[in-house]
Amino acid sequence: MGSALKIGIAGLGTVGAGVVKILHSHSRLITSRSGKSVELKAISARSRSKDRGVSLEGLSWESDIIELAGRSDIDVFVELIGGDGNPAKEAIETALKSGKHVITANKALLAKHGQELAELAEKNNVSLKFEAAVAGGIPAVKVLTESLAGNKINRIMGVMNGTCNYILTRMETSNLPYETVFNEAQKLGYLEADPTLDTGGIDAGHKLAILSSIAFGTQIDFKAVVTQGIELVSIQDIEQAREMGYRIKLLGVSQMTDEGLEQRMQPCLVSANSPIGQLENAMNMIIFDGDHSGQIILRGAGAGEGPTSSAVMSDIIDIARGNKIPTFGQSANSLIKMKPVLTSTPAAYYIRTKLEDSPGVLAKMATALGNNGISIDQMRQTQHADVAAPVVIVTHKTLPETLNKALIEIMKTDATLEAPVALRIEDV
Ligand code: HSE
Repeated sequence: MGSALKIGIAGLGTVGAGVVKILHSHSRLITSRSGKSVELKAISARSRSKDRGVSLEGLSWESDIIELAGRSDIDVFVELIGGDGNPAKEAIETALKSGKHVITANKALLAKHGQELAELAEKNNVSLKFEAAVAGGIPAVKVLTESLAGNKINRIMGVMNGTCNYILTRMETSNLPYETVFNEAQKLGYLEADPTLDTGGIDAGHKLAILSSIAFGTQIDFKAVVTQGIELVSIQDIEQAREMGYRIKLLGVSQMTDEGLEQRMQPCLVSANSPIGQLENAMNMIIFDGDHSGQIILRGAGAGEGPTSSAVMSDIIDIARGNKIPTFGQSANSLIKMKPVLTSTPAAYYIRTKLEDSPGVLAKMATALGNNGISIDQMRQTQHADVAAPVVIVTHKTLPETLNKALIEIMKTDATLEAPVALRIEDV
């Protein structure tokens, strides 16, 4: 049995306290699986007196996380304070420079500074691990980095934000508008302190950017993720989609094309019968499409104490076992900078707008689509009592840039009383 692996944890929120609980409750199991004991030495958190439902007796307390990161008596620094800059960044850098392995759940920081931190880890011959940063309890990073290492990845797809999936599911099952369900989710504590991180697709975009780097051997590039939030999805869209056999999901797609790397996180219509279409409430799903493995579908809880601390523990045990894998699956210096592109895969689109209820307006809209070579597959006009006629059009497959041109032309006709909302119908 080797000498104990000594841990320091910064941040004792839900996840940090969860990790401490597992270290206490599963210590024998962890020792057997790691071949050595794992010892929590030191911690740092905002409040020293808060009851976290777990004993912190015998642990050293650091009020400054940089001090914790640099302590000579720890081997692994676990960063669970969050934030895409300092002090989390400085603490991680301090730990890496002083030869400690680092585990973080901080997707925002990795999305922004992942490349330089990976280079720093490599320079200091230590591991930087982040299973908990992507989809909570789902072992997405491990599966992609290790289990699928022999595959060329064709595509990553998935629902990576449980809060958005909860909101969209609840809107559909309860027939409630977005604002009502958003307020409910906020009361339940589902939303991040800055809710737009969830609803704007940013949190999910961070996760997609991390996975893209591993899958395609590219330098992480969150700014290149085309993000669109779920605020634009109305209860009418959800109803119309359901009637046509679809569900609306905040869907992430990433794939390498001949022109560059395509990464997008946007509300899309997906077949209600597909695995993603059937994903309910706050669950996450990630689908990897490997050239030899075929489709691998992972489903599970993307947040919460148990699932997220389980992911942190997997990194701790990996380090204790002596497993050493480059941060993004290959040497940081070999990751390439890739040109971002919009998708080159045509798709059908769902368009919703309101037209002035007078002769010829629908023809104007159809003409604008036709002028851009877009053919109409379905047209639905719901009952209305006022001068505005709600219209839904489903197009045949086209490219997003062609669709955008058509939408601009539609707006110029003055036929619409509100800007059209267009959602991609993704083959999943
Ligand atoms: N807020 C995220 C979610 C979890 O709702 O899935 C943390 O990334």
